[in-house]
Amino acid sequence: MEIREVAVIGLGTMGAGIAEVFARNGFAVTGIEVNPEALSRGLATLDASLGRAVSRGKLTEADHKEIFGRIRPAASLADAAEADLVIEVVPEQMSIKHWVLQELDERCRPGTIIATNTSSLSVTAIAAGSAHPGRVLGMHFFNPAPVMRLVEVVTTVRTDPATADTITDLASRLGKTPVRVADRAGFVANALLLPYLNHAVRLLETGYATRDDLDTAVTEGIGLPMGPLTLLDLIGLDTSLSVMEVLREEFGGSRYTPAPLLRRLTAAGRTGRKSGAGFYDYSGKDPFHNENGLPLDTVGVAVISIGAEQERADALTARLTRAGIGVNADPDGPGDLVLAAVGPEGGVLAQALAAGRAAKTVGLHLASDTLAELVPTSRTSPAALAAAAAVAARLGVRAVRSSDRPGLIVGALLAAHLRDAVAMVADGYASPADVDTAMTLGCGYPKGPFRLLAERGPERIESLLRAMHRATGDPAFAPHPLLAEYVAAGMPEASS
Ligand code: 3HC
Repeated sequence: MEIREVAVIGLGTMGAGIAEVFARNGFAVTGIEVNPEALSRGLATLDASLGRAVSRGKLTEADHKEIFGRIRPAASLADAAEADLVIEVVPEQMSIKHWVLQELDERCRPGTIIATNTSSLSVTAIAAGSAHPGRVLGMHFFNPAPVMRLVEVVTTVRTDPATADTITDLASRLGKTPVRVADRAGFVANALLLPYLNHAVRLLETGYATRDDLDTAVTEGIGLPMGPLTLLDLIGLDTSLSVMEVLREEFGGSRYTPAPLLRRLTAAGRTGRKSGAGFYDYSGKDPFHNENGLPLDTVGVAVISIGAEQERADALTARLTRAGIGVNADPDGPGDLVLAAVGPEGGVLAQALAAGRAAKTVGLHLASDTLAELVPTSRTSPAALAAAAAVAARLGVRAVRSSDRPGLIVGALLAAHLRDAVAMVADGYASPADVDTAMTLGCGYPKGPFRLLAERGPERIESLLRAMHRATGDPAFAPHPLLAEYVAAGMPEASS
């Protein structure tokens, strides 16, 4: 079937973005919002997004005008009557979705395809509200819709196969990469992304690390385009909470239980960028506070190893020396700072106590070329921590402060996230290639989870998970049997 005219119902952030995608690709788009204020807000969002493309030299003023001119604003669902495809992007409440579908049953031709962009509700349950469930399917875009290349095409047992083929082809014509998925909570990308974001909220609310340090740890330590709390603000805390609720209902367990802070901020109306504040305040965005300019000349530094890992201590000593920081090999000698060369497993306190200079000891883990995780203990003095931050600045790396728990920040977030990816494959829901495609094209990961797992080494991730499981007792961190298989027999072919 040929799709020429498209109607988008709901012009919030996602709806406006989806309308823009179609209009940019030459489609006539009816943009429908029953609330006049929301309609003008949606059009303004769309206009601003096109304006930004002009200012970046990606579009001309004439393109802007022409694309914007393809959008016909409308205030009634009756205006969807001529569309070949209707995409609903209305609030995530089943009663509203069903009301829209019933209206469309009355107003549209029987052949019109109805797509939902739901991120959390069951497409099957939504389709059940239509008199023609065969023509209903999910067309799930990612925020910002004009930028992210993934479209999850979600089919139900009732979806007509020809309808799914039409939408898959259409997504390709829009310059997107369609991935066909079945109707399971969170589909592929959200089912992996949201528990990891929620994990970061838990680390924040338990005081494990600060907001800025969590975000810096992820961008600098893993290389993802946004930190988890910044990304939650982009997606919207309310939307994220809805996805978590559905995941919890379907899968249960601690990994899928929404963090209380996510619930509280949502209840307080701090839903992210769209409301002006979430984890960050967008009225005048506050900067990172990680830099520390303490003069190093006065600081004497000693390096100790954790357990038997002398190699790590030697490497740190060499790096400090190269950066012009004099290292005193004797932790009992004079000096203000004892750096414990620590691995991602942590365990600084015992060594600090054993070395007898706990107040001056800070763990340091070089998590990537650009990130140091600093690990003070309950005995570390503020002066020693400040000195360690100054050392990191001299090494030219960003510093974040982590609790002394297995995984520190980067390892804890990443190992649990990779475990989820392995579990999804073990469940037979998606292949490693699908998982990597979803996360690279839907969430801008430079490398998909399976490639990250192969690079970091399944045995290291398994050992971190074992340590996290031992420390917390949480079965969500128990190494997955399929991961043990990867350790024993090697990883499957990574996709990206
Ligand atoms: N609307 C339109 N275009 C936008 C945009 C927006 N809101 N934000 C950024 N862009 C465009 C810019 O114009 C620029 O385009 P160009 O390359 O053609 O000039 C491009 O995106 C890159 O923008 P910037 O250079 O300003 O910024 P960054 O390089 O920092 O990239 C980002 C911004 C693309 C948003 C990147 O940070 C990223 O990929 N973040 C991850 C986003 C993500 O994970 N999304 C998925 C969330 S989950 C979801 O949506 C599912 C839902 O169901 C919950």
